[in-house]
Amino acid sequence: MSESVIVSGKTKQEKYQSLLSQIKSLVEVEKDFIANVSNIIAALKHGMNFLWVGIYFVKPLPHPQPLSQGRGEEELVLGPFQGPVACTRISFGKGVSGTAWKEKQTVIVEDVNKFSDHIACSSESKSEIVIPCFKSDEVFAVLDVDSEKLNNFDETDKKYLEEIGTIISQLAD
Ligand code: SME
Repeated sequence: MSESVIVSGKTKQEKYQSLLSQIKSLVEVEKDFIANVSNIIAALKHGMNFLWVGIYFVKPLPHPQPLSQGRGEEELVLGPFQGPVACTRISFGKGVSGTAWKEKQTVIVEDVNKFSDHIACSSESKSEIVIPCFKSDEVFAVLDVDSEKLNNFDETDKKYLEEIGTIISQLAD
């Protein structure tokens, strides 16, 4: 099957709405989780023209550490992504992604250079948003989106990216 995602609309909201309906159509014909997540990420990257879009999964550490800081036996490990080569492993509470995991909520960073704990994977990235994805109230993955523009993410991105995060969570069931 050959699919291309064509995002229509002038406003950011219209673009996300157009993208969401295409994402829903893409995933309803396929059962494989990684195949669906890969296509969601490609649709998001190319449909919205972001610098980097990817998912990190919560996975057990190869050599578990003491449980002193909570979830000490797990870390984020890079999954399907589109964009420049990225960091592969991120600890609980570290960087923007590890913070979204720890706080169990979306984190928007207007200027990555002003977020003290930001993990720089690409010098082109200027702003970032990370959405936690939940399974039985626990974070099992985070969706990470980077932009080469400063202050590129707002409440509209949060609303629609969280909707995409919910689709990913449902696909994982
Ligand atoms: N900047 C992220 C790391 C992942 S990359 O952006 C792909 C962070 O601080 O968690």
